[in-house]
Amino acid sequence: MSSTSAGIASIGLQLPPLFMPVTQLAELRGVDPNKYTKGLGCTDIALCPNGHDAATLAVGAAKRALSRWKGSVSDIGLVAVGTESAKDMSRPLSAWVAEELGLSGVIRSYEVKHACYGGTLALRQALEWKWSGAGAGKAALVIASDVALYALGDPGEPTQGAGAVAMIIDEPLVASVSPTSFPFSSPAFDFWRPVGDSFPSVDGQLSLDCYKRAVIECFSALIGDRNARSMLTEYHAHCFHVPFPKMVKKAVLHLGAELGWSLEETEAFYQRKVEGTLEWNQLTGNAYTASLWISVARALVGLKQGTPITAFSYGSGYGAELLELAAGPAAASAAWASDVEKDLSQRKPVDGVGYQRLRGHALAS
Ligand code: COA
Repeated sequence: MSSTSAGIASIGLQLPPLFMPVTQLAELRGVDPNKYTKGLGCTDIALCPNGHDAATLAVGAAKRALSRWKGSVSDIGLVAVGTESAKDMSRPLSAWVAEELGLSGVIRSYEVKHACYGGTLALRQALEWKWSGAGAGKAALVIASDVALYALGDPGEPTQGAGAVAMIIDEPLVASVSPTSFPFSSPAFDFWRPVGDSFPSVDGQLSLDCYKRAVIECFSALIGDRNARSMLTEYHAHCFHVPFPKMVKKAVLHLGAELGWSLEETEAFYQRKVEGTLEWNQLTGNAYTASLWISVARALVGLKQGTPITAFSYGSGYGAELLELAAGPAAASAAWASDVEKDLSQRKPVDGVGYQRLRGHALAS
């Protein structure tokens, strides 16, 4: 395999073993459940019990990705974890992963932080490492893993969630990724977590505006001087970072208006090209760095080799990047879908009392 043909060779996902329907949270907070289900588009919040965190999710996802790859850990020369759920200000989350997987030796191991954009940055760096030849024939293990929790009663509480996606960068069996991508960044305090704070601070409206502006900037760069309508419909699906599902719809409506499409046209575009990619996100809630890659993993299921999709990554602070992917031969059978089916079928519901207990523990630990 030439280094320039490297892409995503294998994907593994890991969801936590507990969840709470947002309707339960609405009851607990005395809020009309329609605000969470219709207003924000949320369904469930994936939750981690005591002993589970971003590291255990990352390890679980990595083991699943490795189990479906023809190589072994001795073929890996880079392990990068994108997360905003760091366990330590110095020690990278990748060290916990490397310990569990027995990864040591001639390996570059590090953590990437840029809010929800960190996983995409880790992926791009790993691809560029392979494409440049710096990997010297080795593969990379990239993981996006997060546990998204807000302060009790925070407006972000119904959007909470967790999950991890691991990707091995080697032959493009799952998907190839275009070397050209469309980044955009502009410094802002839309969402931040000062050192020592347990939960994020959010300027909710500003974060929505930053996200929408980034969508316009990145898609405008992709479209260039081509016809937006015919060009964007050539992609089978458009995946987005999913802080909550309604955010994605708001952004698509904003993009449609910017492109001069009628509301009906944009709604039809959203239903055909975007809505289906959110299916798993609705059941996990926001998994920060992993959210976009959960959506991409869903969108690739069953695709014929060569089918193109896009992936829009957004991280507060803020930075964004739009990627183009094409399905590889393994997308048709999509073995990774079984990770999600298994985790969803085995996870246990938590009611309001169980949630309070869990959060009490989370606060104390
Ligand atoms: N039935 C149906 N819809 C209802 C409703 C009801 N009873 N009550 C409210 N809504 C709708 C509102 O009209 C609004 O819809 P709109 O945005 O289309 O107008 C939506 O529910 C949310 O209501 P709002 O009052 O704006 O929610 P909020 O201010 O309590 O919280 C966020 C919304 C996004 C600010 C909050 O969830 C948050 O801070 N999230 C974290 C940050 C984030 O994810 N940012 C995204 C970019 S990264």
